[in-house]
Amino acid sequence: MMVLALHPEWQEMAREEVLQVNMILNEVLRLYPPVISLCQHTYKDTGIGNIHLPAGVDLALPMLLIHHDPEPWGDDVEEFRPERFLGGVSRASKEQIALFPFGWSLRTCIGQKKYNSSPNFLVSSIRDSLLRNHVKKLNL
Ligand code: HEM
Repeated sequence: MMVLALHPEWQEMAREEVLQVNMILNEVLRLYPPVISLCQHTYKDTGIGNIHLPAGVDLALPMLLIHHDPEPWGDDVEEFRPERFLGGVSRASKEQIALFPFGWSLRTCIGQKKYNSSPNFLVSSIRDSLLRNHVKKLNL
């Protein structure tokens, strides 16, 4: 950190790289969410926004369908386009957020922070495996 503070040009490049990797990860989790649907049950009268839900209702959030719905995402919904996350998750889809790979609100995944804070581990493991394959091909 100290050294990066002395070299702002590298700090900026590292920041850019982390942003790009986050965009790629978001797009991968949008297209291929490991959890495809969330279910909840209301044990008492409750509400979501202005929707009233009585006790005993089963709710399903079909993550895979929402992530592939052209209405919030646009006609290129099936394309791999990490640049849709250039302005952040909230601006990637129309009107409201439509990306929930880790769930939402109180029950949200506790692994999400770790996942988002260590994208560089992911990049280096991808790079290492590409390098290993390359070396294997060259018979080194
Ligand atoms: C790409 C990786 C991961 C994805 C996509 C993912 C996704 C999810 C989802 C969708 C939920 C359900 C949230 C809900 O019920 O609304 C969840 C819950 C949970 N996840 Fe993950 N997860 C990931 C990695 C991890 C990791 C690495 C850990 C552990 C360190 C973890 C620990 C948990 C726990 C403990 C819960 C239950 C939270 C609760 O019910 O209060 N997850 N995760």
